[in-house]
Formats: sequence, structure tokens, C-alpha cells
Amino acid sequence: MARQPFIAGNWKMHKTVAEAEAFVQGLLPRIYDADHCDVALCTPFTALQAVVDSTRGSRIEVYAQNMHHEAQGAFTGEVSAPMLTELDVHGVVLGHSERRQLFGETDKALQLKVPAALDAGLQVILCVGETEEEREAGDTERRLRHQVDEGLEKVPTERLGDVVIAYEPIWAIGTGQVATPEQAQEACAFVRALVGQRSKEEADRGRVLYGGSVKPDNAAELLGLPDVDGALVGGASLDVEQFEALVNAAKG
Ligand code: 13P
Repeated sequence: MARQPFIAGNWKMHKTVAEAEAFVQGLLPRIYDADHCDVALCTPFTALQAVVDSTRGSRIEVYAQNMHHEAQGAFTGEVSAPMLTELDVHGVVLGHSERRQLFGETDKALQLKVPAALDAGLQVILCVGETEEEREAGDTERRLRHQVDEGLEKVPTERLGDVVIAYEPIWAIGTGQVATPEQAQEACAFVRALVGQRSKEEADRGRVLYGGSVKPDNAAELLGLPDVDGALVGGASLDVEQFEALVNAAKG
């Protein structure tokens, strides 16, 4: 099955509203005819409304970077799915390794968040990935299996293909130490196979992204791999020219 490539920029805790708007104004004319791939900007909560408004009618989708599974309640500092959909936000990144490592995000919490986001009509990018120690200890597959199985456990089978899974090895994030094509292909194929244990059809339909030090000069090779359907990009997504180059690299 042909899967539409997907380039998602994860801005993390970067860009004020003014900076976000300047980025969008710079990007829009550069990618207006890029219908070969889906494009998303995952912005801080504070920039969501502005980026939704300034990209309306364009091909750019806007994603949040986290979400609570409850619709409302006494959860200070959290944001819910209805709060995001009200803004016309398209989707949400869940389980990023920075949230797991720095903010105590657990697989158990993700088990609730992923189906809650889907039920609310949000697209989900679920992030998984191993640490350097886990890779060196030969524990990569065990780690990925645990994260994928837990994150998708409460997702109905017929919706598995709606969840985009981003394989982001933690040792490659923000380090400039990109995975080799062999490592990226092997892990992304393994992630797809894990989904395939529940449904071959949904595994064929669902997209798997690679993330971790994706740059214009290494993107084409990674995006050309059979089980890599796109990229989740941190640093290089903050710069209009680099992000445009990544979108172009998805042309194949
Ligand atoms: P870098 O592209 O900066 O390595 O970040 C990857 C990432 O964490 C995207 O979510």
C-alpha cells in the first residue's frame, strides 16, 4: 500500500507567537505546491491558535506536543483534547522521550492518552525509542515492543493504522548522531511488525516515522527506506530553509 510521506516539525519549547508567525509566513510560499507529502508543525501550546489561524487553507497541519487523557478536571498545568480540537488543532504528539525522561510520562498514561486523542478526532504521533544503554545491551526490540504494545493497547484494531508511530532513538535526538539507514530501517520495520501482530492491514496502512538528528543532508536517504514513511524533526524544523529542504527531500 502506498503511504503518503509525512514530515513533522517538533518545535519543542521554541518560538514565541511572533516567531511562529514569522516562520509560517516564510514557509507557506515555499511549500504551497508540495502535495507529495503531509506537513505538520508541532508547536508550543501558546502558539497553537496563531499557527492554526495563519495556516488555515494551507497544507500545513498543526499538532500539540502533549495532552491529558481526561476532558477536564483538577489537573493543574494540563491541556485536554477538547481544548485542542476547539482551536482546530489537527493532532498531538504523545510519549516524546523528553516527556518520558524529564516529565515522568509513563506507558500507562499513554495507554489512556492515545485512545482519548483518537476519540476526540485528533491525529496521534506516538513516539517510541531506546536509550543508548538499551541499544548496547541488545534491549532495543524489547523496549520498542513494550512501548508500542502499551501505547496501542486500548486502541481498537481498526484504528491502529491511524496512529503514526515515530521511532526516535534517544541517543540520536539533538546529538547530531543520526541512526544509520540500516538501524532506522530495522527499527521502523520492527515497529510495523509489532502493529502487524494485531492487524497486517493496519500495519500496512499506518505510517512509521524516523526521528533523531534528521537534517537536509541525511533526509533523502532515510526517507527512501522502505519502512520509513517520514520524519519527526526537531532542530532542523526551526529554520524555514532547512524545513523546506526536508519537505523537498520527501519527494523521493
Ligand atoms: P532533533 O531533530 O533535534 O534531533 O530532535 C528529534 C526529535 O526529538 C523530534 O521529536
